[in-house]
Amino acid sequence: MSEEKCCVVTCDLPLDKTYWDNQYQANATGWDLGEVSPPIKTYIDTIENKDAKILIPGCGNTYEAEYLLQKGFTNVTVIDIAPTLVENLKHKFVENTNIRVVLGDFFEHAGNYDCIIEQTFFCALPPRMRQRYVWKMHQLLTDHGKLIGLLFNREFEVGPPFGGNLKEYEQLFQKAFVFNSISLAKNSVPARENTELFIELQKNHPNQVNLYHFEGITCSGCMNTVSGKFLEIDGVLSVSMNTDFSEILIVSKTEVALKTLQKIVSYDEKYKILKIN
Ligand SMILES: C[S@@+](CC[C@H](N)C(=O)[O-])C[C@H]1O[C@@H](n2cnc3c(N)ncnc32)[C@H](O)[C@@H]1O
Repeated sequence: MSEEKCCVVTCDLPLDKTYWDNQYQANATGWDLGEVSPPIKTYIDTIENKDAKILIPGCGNTYEAEYLLQKGFTNVTVIDIAPTLVENLKHKFVENTNIRVVLGDFFEHAGNYDCIIEQTFFCALPPRMRQRYVWKMHQLLTDHGKLIGLLFNREFEVGPPFGGNLKEYEQLFQKAFVFNSISLAKNSVPARENTELFIELQKNHPNQVNLYHFEGITCSGCMNTVSGKFLEIDGVLSVSMNTDFSEILIVSKTEVALKTLQKIVSYDEKYKILKIN
């Protein structure tokens, strides 16, 4: 699906600010729909509170924000890591006080939002960032806040974009979010028809979602053993480790003391676990 490809340089490069800025400078924005994504537009039309605090991370040319403003929303924040893009957006929206345009890394952003809109941001991140994405989304939402938008339900030969599927998303977001909806989008643009899921995930606010650095695991067998041991802790609801075994996401009824986790993995001196704040 070449129209979805965003690489103009080798994809082995880190997907950082420079990488993304180069895509905008080279006009290599194959992901850009040129319009608000129809399933998101349909959802926006159902939001009654025009003062809802809304965030669009990895916003790109952000037709979604334009649509929100057109519909009278008053509290829209967009954030993107690419300076060239953000400069253009700042210029474009300079006169509009209902939108805040932020240049920065989503994972360093602080705030509290009623709704976060996902549109080809998740798939642009290296898959090892997925646990971090869940953790950050949970952190940025208000108690009853929602993450809504689209996730690919297909794989790609090279990424970005990086694909995924329903089962993977269900495992990744479980317990941290309540699945109000996660099903095949009905009115996708033709190029993405039957390949994307519409999600409406509500923050499961009483649950604690914590992320930890993990050192010492080198294979999925050991990962399963450690995850299994953590899952046995009273009150732990879900445990998921990222693809390079460097981060672990734990969802629990109450926060588990770091010392408890450290003690559990102390049977192997290579294993180190530290909380990410
Ligand atoms: C595939 S593009 C999608 C853009 C837009 N959402 C759209 O659908 O047209 C991914 C966007 O995420 C931005 N991005 C990547 N990593 C980011 C990060 N850590 N924080 C904020 N933005 C990021 C890129 O600069 C790029 O604009």
